[in-house]
Amino acid sequence: MGKDKFTTLAHVAKLADAYVSEAYGETHGGSIPLVSTFSFQGPSNDNSADTPMEIHKENPELVRGLFSDIAGRYQMVNHLLSGGLDFYWRWVAVNLIRPWNPNTVLDVATGTGDLAMAIRKACPPARVIGADFCAPMLEVARKNGLTELVVADGMMLPFADQNFDVVTAAFGLRNMASWKQGLSEMARILKPGGHLLILDFSLPVLPIIRPLYRFYLHHILPHIAGLLTSRKDAYEYLGISIEQFPSGKKMNSLIESCGFKNAKAYPLTLGTVSIYTAERD
Ligand SMILES: C[S@@+](CC[C@H](N)C(=O)[O-])C[C@H]1O[C@@H](n2cnc3c(N)ncnc32)[C@H](O)[C@@H]1O
Repeated sequence: MGKDKFTTLAHVAKLADAYVSEAYGETHGGSIPLVSTFSFQGPSNDNSADTPMEIHKENPELVRGLFSDIAGRYQMVNHLLSGGLDFYWRWVAVNLIRPWNPNTVLDVATGTGDLAMAIRKACPPARVIGADFCAPMLEVARKNGLTELVVADGMMLPFADQNFDVVTAAFGLRNMASWKQGLSEMARILKPGGHLLILDFSLPVLPIIRPLYRFYLHHILPHIAGLLTSRKDAYEYLGISIEQFPSGKKMNSLIESCGFKNAKAYPLTLGTVSIYTAERD
């Protein structure tokens, strides 16, 4: 996509996000004036506990297998299903990261490396490493030009304590067997005062949008994605995992219970995606 076209689209999306944040109630500027933060009411189910779905609690191999199977088509399907909005979400993320001026960044669950590559471009002096427990996804990342890659489980990272200035995870924490363990590992390898950025799906809280989105998530998206990837089950799993994943205030509390402070939530695209930032205590 051309840079100008992308910037225009990004600004339109940004205005929509500002509108949604107003609708949610509380708006206040974050560390950058790009997006507004707000407090979610949170979904009606209590998903604040560290209770990921059975599918990967019992069998993390299943998650790895799903991503191995779709690795070659992952990026194309991502761009199609998000209507290209994934570029915008990463753009917002790197605009939050840039002012932190990191020298060392670890992108956990990096997959095909899209966020890591965007960070490397936005923060040229930084050393950006991508880690993932699925080798076929990393193979695509390598072909995309990400050079520093590590096959590693996000819940048991092979790095010494207090190593990185910034740790990120895009659409990865939700898939981990324990969100608490994943976050605690991220805290462990961050330097004191270092920054965390989590980008992941969330459920909208706006009355009409929420049921429409849930219908799309459970009844439309798996069929479309099934046609594109032959792994409809992977996208049925996506909907269930989004339902269970905490968002807004609940996610902020979870993050702060794992060694972080000043957690903030930034809802994007009608609240279907959220970015969370925090500082290592
Ligand atoms: C939905 S993809 C996201 C990839 C990439 N971050 C992006 O934004 O497109 C989720 C990734 O998380 C990885 N993953 C899931 N659980 C993991 C774990 N425990 N440790 C490391 N990687 C994990 C999967 O292998 C997969 O590559």
